[in-house]
Amino acid sequence: MTKVVGRTAFITGGGSGVALGQAKVFAQAGCKVAIADIRQDHLDEAMAWFDGRGHEVMAVKLDITDRDAYARAADDVEARLGPVELLFNTAGVSIFGPLQNATYDDWDWQLDVNLRGVINGIQTFVPRMIERGNGGHIVNTASMSAFVALKGTGIYCTSKMAIRGLSECLALDLADHGIGVSMLCPGAVNTNIHEAVLTRPAHLQQTGYYGADPNVMAHLKQVIAVGMEPEVLARYVLKGVEADQLYILPYPEFRRTLEEIHERVMAALARPEDDPDYEKRAAHGVPGGEKREKVAS
Ligand SMILES: NC(=O)c1ccc[n+]([C@@H]2O[C@H](COP(=O)([O-])OP(=O)(O)OC[C@H]3O[C@@H](n4cnc5c(N)ncnc54)[C@H](O)[C@@H]3O)[C@@H](O)[C@H]2O)c1
Repeated sequence: MTKVVGRTAFITGGGSGVALGQAKVFAQAGCKVAIADIRQDHLDEAMAWFDGRGHEVMAVKLDITDRDAYARAADDVEARLGPVELLFNTAGVSIFGPLQNATYDDWDWQLDVNLRGVINGIQTFVPRMIERGNGGHIVNTASMSAFVALKGTGIYCTSKMAIRGLSECLALDLADHGIGVSMLCPGAVNTNIHEAVLTRPAHLQQTGYYGADPNVMAHLKQVIAVGMEPEVLARYVLKGVEADQLYILPYPEFRRTLEEIHERVMAALARPEDDPDYEKRAAHGVPGGEKREKVAS
């Protein structure tokens, strides 16, 4: 059981959507909260919501792909709110289309934010958390794309499947330090992610997909507008953190799809009787085989 009351939370992308929901719910649960975001307008709107509510919240303008700026942001937040013991790697972007149309800029932008941005958060805060020895918790926001491949989502899906591997390994590595790890996998959430292209940096503008096209943005908004509200999603996260759950999967509509994926994988997996060398390997307790360390449930 992880207690969150009184702890300091650092939430990337905290100016909008999923992360702002997390900021509201964890502040209401008694956390001190730093919201870090690349968009000043999002930070201003978020701070306006917190105004007068009595929570201890600060805004930090940060591009999570900038490692030096990340370290400075961490120092500023810790000087004002105390040691960060809850890290939410939530900021993310998306752009869709077939992989064969992707440019290197399309790859670099999404992997820089969705994967390297998360790595930067871990590299910045994990050594501090370990050194202080107070434990803590890290929540990485992935997506159902961490499990489900859909046509036209290739780069996004690659980044989110990477977050799954990262989160599962991190949970094993940090268990002895009392630092829990959760991976949040939302389906649709009613956020501003349809505007993600607006944060695309100037040096990565060459795209094989679309730019800041109002028609595309309106279409994407239609798809997510029926999604879960961010605060509802964040209440699942609070429960997941308190219960130290690795997987936070609040979307029952994916149940059958996940069963089908696992059935396909199991059908493809060789059986012991098909492989003459199996007994020899099994006798030695192959890493990753039957003797694999268990991941938290
Ligand atoms: N909305 C959905 O349907 C949905 C579904 C599954 C997963 N997710 C995931 O949820 C997370 C949050 O997305 P959202 O839907 O709330 O979108 P959002 O656009 O509403 O919020 C994302 C925030 O991240 C900020 N951001 C973007 N790039 C940044 C950077 N380089 N540095 C710092 N901040 C940056 C944006 O300015 C924005 O305020 C993402 O990781 C996304 O992949 C969203």
